[in-house]
Amino acid sequence: MAKMWAGRTAGATDQLADDFNSSIGFDSRMYREDITGSIAHAEMLAATGIIDAAEAAQIVEGLEGILRDLDSGELAIDPTCEDIHMFVEQVLTQRIGEAGKRLHTARSRNDQVALDLRMYLRGETDSIQEKLQALAETLIVRAEANTETIMPGYTHLQRAQPVTFGHHLMAWCMMLLRDRDRLSDARRRMNLSPIGCCALAGTTYPVDRQLEADKLGFDGLCMNSMDGVSDRDFCLELLGDLAILMMHLSRFSEEIILWSSWEFRFIELSDAFTTGSSIMPQKKNSDMAELVRGKTGRVYGNLMALLATMKSLPLAYNKDMQEDKEGIFDACDTVKSCLDIMTGMLGTLTVRADTMRQAAQTGFINATDLADYLVGKGLPFRSAYKIAGQIVAHCMENGQILETLPLAEYRHFSPLFDEDVYAAVDLDACLRKRTSLGGPSPQSVKAQIDWAKDTLRKK
Ligand code: ARG
Repeated sequence: MAKMWAGRTAGATDQLADDFNSSIGFDSRMYREDITGSIAHAEMLAATGIIDAAEAAQIVEGLEGILRDLDSGELAIDPTCEDIHMFVEQVLTQRIGEAGKRLHTARSRNDQVALDLRMYLRGETDSIQEKLQALAETLIVRAEANTETIMPGYTHLQRAQPVTFGHHLMAWCMMLLRDRDRLSDARRRMNLSPIGCCALAGTTYPVDRQLEADKLGFDGLCMNSMDGVSDRDFCLELLGDLAILMMHLSRFSEEIILWSSWEFRFIELSDAFTTGSSIMPQKKNSDMAELVRGKTGRVYGNLMALLATMKSLPLAYNKDMQEDKEGIFDACDTVKSCLDIMTGMLGTLTVRADTMRQAAQTGFINATDLADYLVGKGLPFRSAYKIAGQIVAHCMENGQILETLPLAEYRHFSPLFDEDVYAAVDLDACLRKRTSLGGPSPQSVKAQIDWAKDTLRKK
């Protein structure tokens, strides 16, 4: 078929070139944005007197019909069209005739595709935000029920100090709140309208870019027509934010995998979110968490791919930029499915409070509290630290723990020790005393939960 852009050339391209050039296989998912954008464009053209009001009405009606028919499945996307923009315009002209050919006045596919993509990605950003919210809420619910569930907190993956499962979950929640904030920030810069930048040099028609942007819910306009058609920062910024978000989900996943291992047994994943082995009957594998961790790599890859695509492009539009879509669509799809899976997995896992407590009791995670006890008796922290370390070594050699080491043996290391040392190293007491802002005491974690709930309420 002759190309819509046949003009200087006859548009008789090789089939190989057609296939190579085509983007309809992936950009047709933006059909709603494309049609909505075109409706606003036709209305703007009529409002400014660039086209006749009756013709604009015909265009709008035609476009609304196409949207309805695509939504209902009555109209199928024609894969032989070059892209979604060409497809919609072609169907419109088939359906309403001459008037359809006026739609593309005072615009270009260059500003059209930038418009569609910004609109599509702002919708994706909103739906990712909603899923983030659901995951954060799930974490909060589980944290609320576990503000007293003692577990060892780790540094270097070595047992370090007492925290609770609730405290740990809230650490993850804080990351998600930042991810949400980053996405809101990206959305602000994304939500500027490029339509009216045309091919690159604006237009001689008396367009009203503000009117068109207002109709489409934009907060402002791209202020330079060359920048408006060649900027893909909004994609890169979103990809960057999604890469950080996936890094967070991957870290959670890593901990979920560790915690559900036989070595830790801190949690048990619900059967609904695990798989078995085809050969080892005893296995219950954390495949979902592993896949989230694995899929993080492809989101990073999508970010790197677009950065590399963009890095040497001269202004303004270049066809290289058609490569922006598959990666960012894939990143959005991946992030959405990972968020859903994480919400399901975290909402249904069983907490093994007993194993957590056992681990907390055997790692000398109250050694800092022992040192602090001596500080309370007047010793400088450095000296107290040294004595506490010697006592830990002594306990390890003799199969003892701080909670049960006889007072006489304590006194062997320092005469400052008294009966009250046992209260000082008691795990629950160690936890309760950590009341500093952000700390693991139940009251501190409750304050974090309140803060998180409050933050989530704010848009
Ligand atoms: N399919 C193209 C893309 O995704 C649309 C813009 C084409 N513009 C052009 N001048 N060839 O970028």
